[in-house]
Amino acid sequence: MAEIELLKHESRVFSPSTAWAQSANIAGMDAYRALCTRAQDDYTGFWAKLARENVSWQQSFSHVLDESNAPFYRWFEDGTLNASYNCLDRHIENGHGERVAIIFEADDGNVRKVTYRQLHQTVCKLANGLKSVGVKKGDRVIIYMPMGIQGVAAMQACARIGAIHSVVFGGFSAKSLHERIVDTGAVAIITADEQIRGGKTLPLKAIVDEALALPGCDSVQQVIVHKRTGNAISFNPKQDLWMEELITPQSKTCEPEWVSAEHPLFILYTSGSTGKPKGVQHACGGYLLWAMLTMQWTFDIQPAKDVFYCTADIGWITGHTYVAYGPLAMGATQIIFEGVPTYPDAGRFWDIIQKHQVSIFYTAPTAIRALIKASAINDQVHPKQYDLSSLRLLGSVGEPINPEAWMWYYQQVGQQRCPIVDTFWQTETGGHVIAPMPGATSLVPGSCTLPLPGIMTAIVDESGHPVPAGQGGLLVIKRPWPSMIRTIWGDPERFKKSYFPAELGGNVYLAGDGAICDKDSGYYTITGRIDDVLNVSGHRMGTMEIESALVAHPLVAEAAVVGKPDDVTGEAICAFVVLKRNHPTGQEATQIAVELRNWVSKEIGPIAKPKEIRFGDNLPKTRSGKIMRRLLRILSRGEQITQDISTLENPAILEQLKQVA
Ligand code: WTA
Repeated sequence: MAEIELLKHESRVFSPSTAWAQSANIAGMDAYRALCTRAQDDYTGFWAKLARENVSWQQSFSHVLDESNAPFYRWFEDGTLNASYNCLDRHIENGHGERVAIIFEADDGNVRKVTYRQLHQTVCKLANGLKSVGVKKGDRVIIYMPMGIQGVAAMQACARIGAIHSVVFGGFSAKSLHERIVDTGAVAIITADEQIRGGKTLPLKAIVDEALALPGCDSVQQVIVHKRTGNAISFNPKQDLWMEELITPQSKTCEPEWVSAEHPLFILYTSGSTGKPKGVQHACGGYLLWAMLTMQWTFDIQPAKDVFYCTADIGWITGHTYVAYGPLAMGATQIIFEGVPTYPDAGRFWDIIQKHQVSIFYTAPTAIRALIKASAINDQVHPKQYDLSSLRLLGSVGEPINPEAWMWYYQQVGQQRCPIVDTFWQTETGGHVIAPMPGATSLVPGSCTLPLPGIMTAIVDESGHPVPAGQGGLLVIKRPWPSMIRTIWGDPERFKKSYFPAELGGNVYLAGDGAICDKDSGYYTITGRIDDVLNVSGHRMGTMEIESALVAHPLVAEAAVVGKPDDVTGEAICAFVVLKRNHPTGQEATQIAVELRNWVSKEIGPIAKPKEIRFGDNLPKTRSGKIMRRLLRILSRGEQITQDISTLENPAILEQLKQVA
């Protein structure tokens, strides 16, 4: 494949090579613009055509979009389908049953491949197993699993019988898991004895037991345990079942449950600006359609040829759309990796790409930055030591990618041959909403470029008026789209308030990010969250969630959390803490800080551990008692406070808060 042509080095703009522009699913800007124009001219006709061409319907829909109960939009509602049928059966019917669906690479390097036919069998047996223990359409099932074939099979099995899965990332604590069990009212939990990452085993079943011992889990009837390591675990024969024993006697076929396109496919919790995570609910039809379209448009997937590798865990939205559903719905071959990028060394990703001839690689900027650092220290793990010639496309997701990391990814990993698709999206959007199309869009490092066809983005001010190009504002989406969030599970009011706020007129989707649109190119650059949500290693963390965890500690009186820029993780968690006694210093401060970090890890999960803790006898507050977070952000960055602090009730406190414990 020809190199991507360098247009203007100064502004570092890259343009798709002729080869790309000719062979891609969206071949050139004209093709992109034609799709956008179709969407403009006949919005519902545009979506209806795509939905008919891409999704296999059991019964076709007669109505495209129902806006009568906005913002609770409904798409293709009288159409019926099954997501698992779309991801498995139809490929077998089309003669692709022997194509490899998943290449699983275990933490220790062992490889297992499953074909579409084999995966279909596993999913059918598990689906029958779930039915045999009483799981029905509409029931919620919590999945707390390692990365692996069984995790994806568990999601697909739920989809097959119309049960609603809610995957909880394996790094969340018993308390976080408990909160999700109670909020969903789950009837079953699918887990594993342990997970293995970076050569270490981590208990999963023991955490499930701990969560279930907390009050309010009476809805749970069964815990289905996949035997991953075989190490001894506690087993309650009244409730626990080995997955392998459950599925062995089951039939290899399972008639899919045909559900309305609006039937919930899953609930996935994500952080918001209050202490309580939001259960984002997605619907089967629209979500599946968008997973398929973005696989074709953004990733240019060629199912018969590509080996697709998305490094995200199934516990996050990226692992839903671009591991569990998108690649399978397209009938593609994908890698699922159980471990971490730094084990046995920081060349693991490059080794996997080389070994399995990966052609499309999709990861997070935080991973790239960590690997840049590692390869600067140890040349042996530098991508140049590996044969990465199978790569044709790279992708980035989860946070803004800084131009330096972009350039390294482009030059060292893609060897100046592969376009990088910087994909902006969210748990709530279901799939990419602003992203380049590799055969059409010129690339600017740091910009996610242009909205996808059919996604009507705009940038507005706080009262909903459009801001001029080149000026920052709030990113909104003006029209509903098929894969959008349907509601917050159990809290429709919060859904309306969070995403369709009255201040913006109540009819546009508020993404929660700031953005700027370039005057000349129309390209979008995301400037970061506008609410109290941090982005740590591409993971969303609510400051309120961490603050609530901190104040639950018996020593803590008050806490405020802010994000601090970090070279590797993008943002790092910095906590300002007031104890119920004088602020500690020296050795004692260090000890209490360690204790508080472990406490947060226990309350939420290791991902929420503050990197820095600072103690003071108070927090900087205005005379009306409001915490001045702006000042805390300046302090966390170690910068001088130059602004007027005359409204500050207690200026002396600032000195104390400069010390990191
Ligand atoms: C951020 C992850 C800049 C953003 C798919 C968003 C990004 C939040 C990008 C959603 C990107 C995601 N450039 N920022 N390409 N992608 N974000 O729900 O702040 O885990 O609101 O979904 O991540 O995080 P979530």
